[in-house]
Amino acid sequence: MNGIFIRFRKKPITLLEIGVGFGGSLQMWKSYFGKKARIIGIDIEPICKSVEEKQIEVYIGSESDKTFLKDLKNKIPLLDILIDDGGHFMDQQITGFEEMFGHIKENGVYLIEDLCTSYWDEFNGGYKKPGTFIEYSKNFIDNLNANHSREGHLIVNEFTKSVNSIHYYDNVLVIEKGRREQTEILFSGTIRYPGY
Ligand SMILES: C[S@@+](CC[C@H](N)C(=O)[O-])C[C@H]1O[C@@H](n2cnc3c(N)ncnc32)[C@H](O)[C@@H]1O
Repeated sequence: MNGIFIRFRKKPITLLEIGVGFGGSLQMWKSYFGKKARIIGIDIEPICKSVEEKQIEVYIGSESDKTFLKDLKNKIPLLDILIDDGGHFMDQQITGFEEMFGHIKENGVYLIEDLCTSYWDEFNGGYKKPGTFIEYSKNFIDNLNANHSREGHLIVNEFTKSVNSIHYYDNVLVIEKGRREQTEILFSGTIRYPGY
């Protein structure tokens, strides 16, 4: 995963982490990204508010609560980086993604930790079980490549246009945004690659 965050260091970025815990990671991000970074955490535990300090703010609410997330989006700027290290249940990861992905800047990064729960019963996971975050995220591959579908099975959508790359690491998924307007031209069939 080396290098994904390096371009954001010492820049005036906004980072949101879902899941504050004892605040250790918020401190780490503050130290890594520097004095200009605005670090925001969300957590269901009101005690997490106590880790607030200069550059670090915390909102109390659940990542599976759409109303809370919609309200949050009205209070915070577009994000450079979002890290989901919250409850790790399927509905939380999926709701968090569906509400917050559009709130990431054009060149921002969305990172989800602890994908292991997609395979664990106690988190409503299971191997190839419909509804797990892993199964949900497999559609990202089709969305990313939708402009290459000739039979019209795949529709170019906002994900196709706004995502540059997706990276699966051990237990972690990283989605790097980047505007790809040319995908519409490719989809219309006016460009063909030689040999295909
Ligand atoms: C693994 S800890 C976070 C640790 C922190 N990111 C760190 O590395 O220091 C997970 C946190 O997610 C919080 N959490 C659990 N369910 C949540 C939910 N639905 N929405 C937001 N936070 C949640 C828990 O209260 C807990 O503080």
